Amino acid sequence: ACPNIKLNNGVEIPLIGLGTWQSGPNEVASAVEYAVKEVGYRHIDCAWAYGNEKEVGEGIRRSGVPRSEIFITSKLWCTHHQRVEAAVDESLANLGTGYLDLYLMHWPIHLNPNGNDPKFPKRPDGTRDVLTDWKISDTWKQMEACVKKGKIRAIGVSNCSQKVLEEQLLPFVEMVPAVDQLEIHLYNPQHKLVEFLKSKGIVPQAYSPLGSTGSPLLGDETAAALAKKYELQPADILLGYLVSKDIVTLPKSVTPARIESNFKGTLAAVSKLTKGDIAQLDAVAAAGKQKRFITPPWGVDLGFDNWPQ
Ligand code: A2P
Repeated sequence: ACPNIKLNNGVEIPLIGLGTWQSGPNEVASAVEYAVKEVGYRHIDCAWAYGNEKEVGEGIRRSGVPRSEIFITSKLWCTHHQRVEAAVDESLANLGTGYLDLYLMHWPIHLNPNGNDPKFPKRPDGTRDVLTDWKISDTWKQMEACVKKGKIRAIGVSNCSQKVLEEQLLPFVEMVPAVDQLEIHLYNPQHKLVEFLKSKGIVPQAYSPLGSTGSPLLGDETAAALAKKYELQPADILLGYLVSKDIVTLPKSVTPARIESNFKGTLAAVSKLTKGDIAQLDAVAAAGKQKRFITPPWGVDLGFDNWPQ
């Protein structure tokens, strides 16, 4: 089984979760069912914006594993910052569950809820319609209220830099965010931010831990050599590297063999990687390949060191 770690409010979260971004509505239910029923995943990472929550819920039900044994995360979309509880209710209805284990602010950005597109409104000049004077601490207060009402067990953020956390959120919260979900992988390790999060009791979560679709990470020479040494796959080494640092890791796949190896192979890698192996991977991470693969379209500086311009 996959080990858990404790969030700052005592709730336990499994270190490996199945990512569902870019999993098509016609494939995600079987992927989730397979992951939970056949492999042993007990953590599914979802979001309203992925447009597939209903199918994820169906996959969970089809697995036959009780809801109480599964950790489910969803996320508040950027157009919903002024109606958090309604957005939570919508995700609950989509997923067919009475509560969420974790709910994240998907981005520290409020997009115009009355814009020309329900998900990605644009201004007439083509830039994103971001409401720059909105205070995300006001979004957070509504999220805290949902915890108090019993609809959510823990709340967190996603895509928040140290700067955004320190200037716009932490001074104003009653509940410290339980997690910050970020693009973290061997070529974008975000060591400084991860250290900052840990110092505040915020658990880092890694999305796109393999660098998303078509990434060069799977061909990394160090990961490949370690994979060969332990008769594992490069993906297992890349994911095991993060898990061994207590970073909650969320590999996405809709392919049964990969869903299985990303869980079992990763746990094998965690048990086999030595301090020396981790140091080799740390050296690769520090070698300046730092690169994000996900380019957010907001046109707003969120205070990351590694934001693409
Ligand atoms: P697929 O879903 O078709 O299996 P990330 O988690 O970094 O976002 O990466 C997801 C991408 O990597 C998807 O394209 C997924 O493809 C692919 N992928 C997931 N697991 C593996 C693996 N073990 N080996 C190779 N590619 C993988």
